[in-house]
Amino acid sequence: MPRPKVDADQSGALPAFRPRIFRPTPANLARLAAVLRSGGIVGVPSETVYGLAADALSAEACKRIFAAKGRPSTDPLIVHLASSRELDSVAVASPTAYALASACWPGPLTLVLPKRAEVPDLVTAGKATVAVRVPAHPLFRRLIRLVGRPLAAPSANPFGYISPTTALHVREGLTGSGLRSILQGGECTVGVESTIIDLTHPTRPLLLRPGGLPVETIEGVLGQTVLRPPPACLDIGEAAPAPGMLTQHYSPHTPLTLHTRIDAGILEQLPENEAVLLLRRPEKSAAFGVVSAKVAANRVRWLSERGELEAIAHRLFGVLRAMDSEAWARLHSEIPNGSEGLAPAIRDRLTRAAARRN
Ligand code: TXA
Ligand code: MG
Repeated sequence: MPRPKVDADQSGALPAFRPRIFRPTPANLARLAAVLRSGGIVGVPSETVYGLAADALSAEACKRIFAAKGRPSTDPLIVHLASSRELDSVAVASPTAYALASACWPGPLTLVLPKRAEVPDLVTAGKATVAVRVPAHPLFRRLIRLVGRPLAAPSANPFGYISPTTALHVREGLTGSGLRSILQGGECTVGVESTIIDLTHPTRPLLLRPGGLPVETIEGVLGQTVLRPPPACLDIGEAAPAPGMLTQHYSPHTPLTLHTRIDAGILEQLPENEAVLLLRRPEKSAAFGVVSAKVAANRVRWLSERGELEAIAHRLFGVLRAMDSEAWARLHSEIPNGSEGLAPAIRDRLTRAAARRN
């Protein structure tokens, strides 16, 4: 076996360990399942974003997730199952929960339910509830089956940074964190995290985080409205129902300004060391092209051809990361309006990425 590569370290201290990316062969899956069974952590693909997984029933194992991410222990983890048949082993499910589970799982939906005693307090940050989801990525579910235990997994990024949608993003972010292994599962198809619905109130489902499953799909299954907290309620810090809803989250290092629309006129007025992210290919590409050609390639990028929300969500985090790694003084992005489909999730992530940086 070749020696894993290590990053050079200027200080003379031990070099940061660079996690190895494993192709999803049967032998590698068995090997990574063994790592998880013995209390280790593994970077895993899901259809939403990559996760950082550990045995959800072992507090010792889950401690390693918090340490690797630099995540505060007040922020609980999502527990992932291979099938909705296992829901009862970690949570107390209501008829509403079963209805959503059978209609929407596997998929980008997380349900918050009363927890079973088997789930360690560390996983739920001491809450009486647990967040549960059955991911759609077949490799993630295969790994859970091989381990034979539910897997706790937050997004596999250092706390507060943009979530990873490729195995390489995980390696970039978590080199030197203690993570040694990542399962290669390709690019995440959805590209934004799961929608989180709190079902602890018997009759009033509550949206905690807009995500990869549109809320209207959930309302269609339930035949009832899902409560959406007004945006102002999201900025409530530690007391938030989902601590990951802290206003600033998913943030690039480069300051980010949001616009409802960026046209060639706006671009022309921006300093040349600032870059622009459009939701769709500009109609008058030439106008943008002339301006961008004067400065640097890649100064203007777009996320979709015609504003397709799935394409925008799919590319959002990857393109933001790429722009963040370049030397722009500031990024400018358009945000989608509308309350349908993935628009609320995309708006939510961009709003948080831009918060308190300006
Ligand atoms: O798509 C996803 O959900 C990805 C993939 C890997 O499954 N996971 C993910 O995990 O986004 P994370 O940890 O980055 O975000 C989970 C959110 C956090 O905001 C956390 O506070 C919230 O879920 N959460 C977890 N348990 C909760 C609970 N019992 N009550 C309320 N919120 C909870
Ligand atoms: Mg996260």
